[in-house]
Amino acid sequence: MILSYREALLVKVLFICLGNICRSPTAEGVFAHKVARADLSGHISTDSCGTARYHIGKPPDTRACQAAARRGIDITGLRARQLCQDDFTRFDYLIAMDGDNVMDIKAVCPPGLHDRVSRFLDFAPKLATDDVPDPYYGGPHGFETVLDLSEKAAAGLLARICQEHGLDD
Ligand code: 4NP
Repeated sequence: MILSYREALLVKVLFICLGNICRSPTAEGVFAHKVARADLSGHISTDSCGTARYHIGKPPDTRACQAAARRGIDITGLRARQLCQDDFTRFDYLIAMDGDNVMDIKAVCPPGLHDRVSRFLDFAPKLATDDVPDPYYGGPHGFETVLDLSEKAAAGLLARICQEHGLDD
């Protein structure tokens, strides 16, 4: 059986922060939720990781899980891992949460693949900030901010991917 371009299409998206227990799993959960609601889970896959190795194997921070659950999004099954070289060829979009993440990712990015790396909030250009603030050392409000920013940027990212890959018709 010969599959059409659209039937065979699988776009791979990787969300990246420092520890992979607060922002990037939240962003992944929010984005995957939107992908599922658009009935595109067969065409867009998601993952997340951290530039650091502090929390490898751990589930997302309890505060991130609770905040996401209040919006109907379950991220408890995710497990932290560190960014690796294969990620640059396996993923079409590498989405960093802040400018430090972009620098750390580009420092280990193979030549010719830098255009796969972007900042999450570039997909929500009307916001007052470029970075998703790290909520790890703060209170619960920070996790709500991560979710609010993720909702906006995830919508923009999904629209961009659909447009670039002909998934919007
Ligand atoms: P994340 O937050 O990068 O959004 O997962 C952090 C989690 C842990 C640490 C720093 C940031 N830490 O230093 O352990």
